Amino acid sequence: MPWLWSTALFWLSLAVPAATAGVSKLDSNRLQWPLFTTLDPPGFSCDLPPALDPAPDGLPAATEIFSGDEAILRQVARLQALVRIPSFSYDDTEPENDPRWQVFNQIHDALQVLYPNVSLESPGGLVVLLLLLLLQLLLLLSISPRTQLSIARHTRMTRNTVNSFGLVYAVQGTNASLRPFMLTGHQDVVLVPDPPFSGHCDGHRVWGRGASDDKNIVTAILSVLEHLLRGAGTISKYLQDKYGPQSMAMILDEAGLGLQLLQGNTLYALPSVMEKGHVNIYIDLTARGGHSSAPAQHTGIGIMAELVAAIETNVTYEPQLFSGSPIHKHLICQARNGSEESDSNIDGHGFTERMIVTSDQETEVSHVSPTSGRVWDLFSGTIQHTFAFENGLVVPVGESMTGNTDTRHYLNLATNVYRWAPTRQGWSQNIHAADEAIEMRAHMEGVCFYYNLTRNLDASDV
Ligand SMILES: *[C@@H]1O[C@H](CO)[C@@H](O)[C@H](O)[C@H]1NC(C)=O
Ligand SMILES: *[C@@H]1O[C@H](CO)[C@@H](O)[C@H](O)[C@H]1NC(C)=O
Ligand SMILES: *[C@@H]1O[C@H](CO)[C@@H](O)[C@H](O)[C@H]1NC(C)=O
Ligand SMILES: *[C@@H]1O[C@H](CO)[C@@H](O)[C@H](O)[C@H]1NC(C)=O
Ligand SMILES: *[C@@H]1O[C@H](CO)[C@@H](O)[C@H](O)[C@H]1NC(C)=O
Repeated sequence: MPWLWSTALFWLSLAVPAATAGVSKLDSNRLQWPLFTTLDPPGFSCDLPPALDPAPDGLPAATEIFSGDEAILRQVARLQALVRIPSFSYDDTEPENDPRWQVFNQIHDALQVLYPNVSLESPGGLVVLLLLLLLQLLLLLSISPRTQLSIARHTRMTRNTVNSFGLVYAVQGTNASLRPFMLTGHQDVVLVPDPPFSGHCDGHRVWGRGASDDKNIVTAILSVLEHLLRGAGTISKYLQDKYGPQSMAMILDEAGLGLQLLQGNTLYALPSVMEKGHVNIYIDLTARGGHSSAPAQHTGIGIMAELVAAIETNVTYEPQLFSGSPIHKHLICQARNGSEESDSNIDGHGFTERMIVTSDQETEVSHVSPTSGRVWDLFSGTIQHTFAFENGLVVPVGESMTGNTDTRHYLNLATNVYRWAPTRQGWSQNIHAADEAIEMRAHMEGVCFYYNLTRNLDASDV
């Protein structure tokens, strides 16, 4: 009787052998920080870089374009259109000729209608990215810095379909010697038996699978591009061979812990600078067979249930706070701001949490992306500017996360890899559950963030 035991191992992906015969308590004293590389210099004290206002580029402010009833209703319609397409991905989809892939054609058709300015198809594929995106369903945006002022004059945009359903939108910059940055999101949603794809808007929220994870982000990014790419123009040839190891200034994907307001006046922005690894453990049990009308005292099912219970009881991880780890740095920032809520925070960060993952590939713990240096300062400065509020402080600090994102497939493309959906905690709900929803005010803030970020990156030479 085969049985899949699928668990998420936070700090320990490689410390646990795949065969779990003889389950016993892990000796956490063996563990040392750093278990993985951190790219920051030692001596973190949570000094904030300055907030970064993109206003000097002279473009209209985010609120001029992305606020008001008309703008909100346009975003509702864009999000609904994607949410209403049941773009499930399955564990057992065949790589080729599986009719269940066809729904992604509907997504592509919808994108073409919703975002005509960013939907110009160009011939040819991206060889390098094709390898990276094998079997992935990604919407991948690559925008070179210093692009948008020129974009308004001549659209330098290409859309490539990779591996049938992956999409790569690329905007070539005017200065080809600068590295691009990459915004990514995914088109698929997880399967539920009773799919709720209403896309219903109750006046505040849009409901439906994918409303938050991840069609919210896909819609936000594309809306920004759709605006910035006003005016049709010639498609310049995409520099296919431009991409390679360390070619991106920054990669920003979904996930992370969003924004958390503590004590009413400190808003923590918690992008993930690292991901745990994971491994799936399979147990094969061979038991004596027989007729079900006369089962043995202890059946295969019973033995397997015992094994599962033994693993649940014995494979637990005590919270450990390693000096220099992202969580430690987060707590330093909170301590510096006199927050008393740090304990609940530690609990919330999933040292002991488990996540059921369905992939059966082993993923190693990622490197820890920098929380200092020019790229981080630009990212942090944009967050501080975008979410600034009266008498309050916005503190971006790197965090770690329990789940895995698609960034694991392109860690070699950039040093600065962040996973962060610019969404306040509590403003989206029930991701991966039957009644997923996103508040439109969260979506609109996200759109403004991507708009500000694109402009700041455009104006910088990182
Ligand atoms: C950046 O985003 C915020 C919205 O959160 C907006 O109020 C601000 O004006 C934006 N900055 C610019 C220059 O548009
Ligand atoms: C392009 O970027 C490089 C590297 O920052 C810089 O040396 C060069 O002057 C830039 N060229 C233009 C035309 O801005
Ligand atoms: C797309 O481009 C057209 C033509 O230039 C422009 O009128 C329109 O405003 C653009 N769309 C958006 C959403 O900005
Ligand atoms: C946990 O492991 C111990 C031995 O290390 C064993 O005695 C105990 O029964 C296990 N717990 C369960 C629920 O099997
Ligand atoms: C909060 O922490 C930041 C650095 O993260 C610091 O600049 C700021 O002064 C602190 N605020 C208070 C009120 O302590």
